Amino acid sequence: MKKCLLLGNGGREAVLAEQISKGYSLYAIMPYANPSIVEYVEQSNGKYIIGDTFDKELVKEFIEQEEIEACVVSQDNLLQEGLIDLARELGLQTFGPTSKGAKIEWSKTYALEIVKELAPEMIIKNEAITTKEKLEEIISQYEDDSFVVKPEGLTGGKGVKVGGIHFHGKDEGYDYAKTCLEESGKVIIQDKVEGREFTVMALTDGENIVVTPTTFDYPYRFDEDKGPGTGGMGCLSFENGLLPFLDQKDIDLCSKLIQDTIKYVNKDSLEFTGVIYGGFFKCKDGIKFIEFNARFGDPEAINVLNCLETPFTEIFEHISNKTLSPENCKFKKNYTFTVYVVSPNYALSASKEPCEFILNKEAILQKDAKIYFASTKQIEGNHYTSVGNSRLFAIHTNGATLEEAKQKAYNAMENNVDEVLNYRKDIGEIYEH
Ligand code: GLY
Repeated sequence: MKKCLLLGNGGREAVLAEQISKGYSLYAIMPYANPSIVEYVEQSNGKYIIGDTFDKELVKEFIEQEEIEACVVSQDNLLQEGLIDLARELGLQTFGPTSKGAKIEWSKTYALEIVKELAPEMIIKNEAITTKEKLEEIISQYEDDSFVVKPEGLTGGKGVKVGGIHFHGKDEGYDYAKTCLEESGKVIIQDKVEGREFTVMALTDGENIVVTPTTFDYPYRFDEDKGPGTGGMGCLSFENGLLPFLDQKDIDLCSKLIQDTIKYVNKDSLEFTGVIYGGFFKCKDGIKFIEFNARFGDPEAINVLNCLETPFTEIFEHISNKTLSPENCKFKKNYTFTVYVVSPNYALSASKEPCEFILNKEAILQKDAKIYFASTKQIEGNHYTSVGNSRLFAIHTNGATLEEAKQKAYNAMENNVDEVLNYRKDIGEIYEH
């Protein structure tokens, strides 16, 4: 069986591990033993090592020693650091863009330049700023805090701050923008718009794209979309691949931008394969662009990969052969539902104090729900601990209706997830901002 290396350790990597292990032997490097990834490595007779996934010497040695043939990377900073470039240099079949291709994610100004050229009507008025003077001038033009501050680089979903929600008053917005400017030499100030946010992801072989079911993410920490931004507290997808506030022509516009962007990025050489993620707003005056990511979203990957009808490993082969098409990359029609469980201080404090908890995994599985571990290590039996200060694990269900999928997830969690932990109880509601 083909040996495939997966780098990274989130819930997204846990679901990728599941998919890879169905057709390949899974090899993994991770900073700690993620219980899901360990399970899929063992099921597929692969091997894992605990180590620094950014250590290119370590990765190279593991690839060579184990004679690994393929590599999947879907973590933003690993892509920026060029781990796919390394795998390509070693002759592996790869899923994920090179560092140059991933620039659409690690440089927000580059992404905006592309969209300005390809779909100017999707651009929300913005200014890329490189000096304090310009920052003062631009912010002084706003009457109140109805603007958004976007850092230039990667922030794990936690960097974009919206006036009136994440900061209050122009001064607070200015202070945050100044910090971003000092950190990277660039910051973007964008008009705040009203609308609903959604994600369109597409698989790509560098020439062709196949759009996956559209997803709706819950970036805010608390119920009713309150509190700070997070990497995502939950995610939905609908059986028709759309969302209640979208129609097919909205998705067609987003798909066209994604297809044109792939062409644009790959015009010199084919460096972008894997997944392109477009974040959009549906506003009164049409679809507006928010951002590109060069990878699967997390938790969006959990919803979308659980919808696959075609095995992921077959899709990977089509990506490598540049034969990807909607005929050979198919999705099931059902509702999918994911809830992330986090420690009480997640996104609220920088504390990395370990949080120990009990999780009745077997009871949850018996209730037809799946668990994907993220920043969690098993201590013994049902006893686990957090690692770092990111999300702990995701519960995933599907159903013939959204209500069925939702009830299944929350019922499975009742009495089986330690009360010390937090999760949103309102995944399934669709709010407008
Ligand atoms: N859930 C948002 C992201 O993965 O960036």
